[in-house]
Amino acid sequence: MTLSLSAEKIHRQPWPGLIEAYREYLPVSDTTPVVTLLEGNTPLIPATALEQRIGRQVKVYVKYDGLNPTGSFKDRGMTMAISKAKEAGAKAVICASTGNTSAAAAAYARRGGMRPFVLIPDGYVALGKLAQALLYGAEVLAIKGNFDRALEIVRRMADNYPITLVNSVNPYRLEGQKTGAFEVVDDLGNAPDWLCIPVGNAGNITAYWMGFCQYYQAKKCECLPKMMGFQAAGAAPLVNGQPVAEPETIATAIRIGNPASWEKAVAAKDASQGNFHSVTDAEILNAYRILASEEGIFCEPASASSVAGMLQVKDQIPTGSTVVCVLTGNGLKDPDTAIKYSNSQIKQGIDPKIEAVAKAMGF
Ligand code: F0G
Repeated sequence: MTLSLSAEKIHRQPWPGLIEAYREYLPVSDTTPVVTLLEGNTPLIPATALEQRIGRQVKVYVKYDGLNPTGSFKDRGMTMAISKAKEAGAKAVICASTGNTSAAAAAYARRGGMRPFVLIPDGYVALGKLAQALLYGAEVLAIKGNFDRALEIVRRMADNYPITLVNSVNPYRLEGQKTGAFEVVDDLGNAPDWLCIPVGNAGNITAYWMGFCQYYQAKKCECLPKMMGFQAAGAAPLVNGQPVAEPETIATAIRIGNPASWEKAVAAKDASQGNFHSVTDAEILNAYRILASEEGIFCEPASASSVAGMLQVKDQIPTGSTVVCVLTGNGLKDPDTAIKYSNSQIKQGIDPKIEAVAKAMGF
């Protein structure tokens, strides 16, 4: 039967996790103990509602990295960082985090038999991320300071104590994260013309650029994308050209004033003839609602900044081009923001009767 034949054809091999899938491009050996939750292989989803908003012939896709095992792209970096930490005999790891790194570090460290310590900015981590870090078994220290301060502290801790730093200043993190670019190219058959990506600590834009360049050298793609980095307006040091002492944005994941990978991100933007732009919280929330209510894709606010940015500069996108927006984290991470800023409301207090329900529905 044709149907079962084609079903058989499209049925893929079990995905082995990104270290196995991209081993030849990663700094691992046969003896590296691979700590994996089979991360990666996330879908590149066509976004027709976004294409309609551009209103010209432009192909738009979203790379939905919120479908990784802990719900964000951090899993790509963490499988590498934790595997290499285990290989080196580490017993404990530490990170500063706006939430997602802490969830990923906690999950992978526990799976690898290590103790995860995480420093978070008190009061600025979305509920789902906190829930994850706690249940995975991290030792969570909330500091009265922002992410930038927390990162300074954990860097010193790792210099002075027997504990491995797993923030993106750990080079293995970027090695793992570059596989996002590999997957985009593997799916499209080439690199996109534009890559729109949220920028906080600036590790992911750096990693994606590394991945595209490496694949280009390996002749897996014929072109390189323009790297378009988007920061929240209240936390836009790369756009302003100077650190922001007190970053503020509803997108707490990218509430960062002094990115660790500053120079590398600028180098990626320059080499790719891309750009950095800032998007307001209102633009972020607008994109967040459009993605959910028109595309059926629930991402977290920080992730929506890539789409907010693309919509802001849509008139600059050349007709006929292909754009990929990276959606870095799952919307379930931040239920409070979803409920508070949704256009829909719960109709409450309805009698449990068919007539009452029908009336409430407008029949
Ligand atoms: N999107 C989400 C959902 C994030 O959690 C982050 C960073 C970014 C985008 C920005 O990526 O830092 O590589 O430029 N989150 C970090 C954390 C800081 O601690 O979870 P970046």
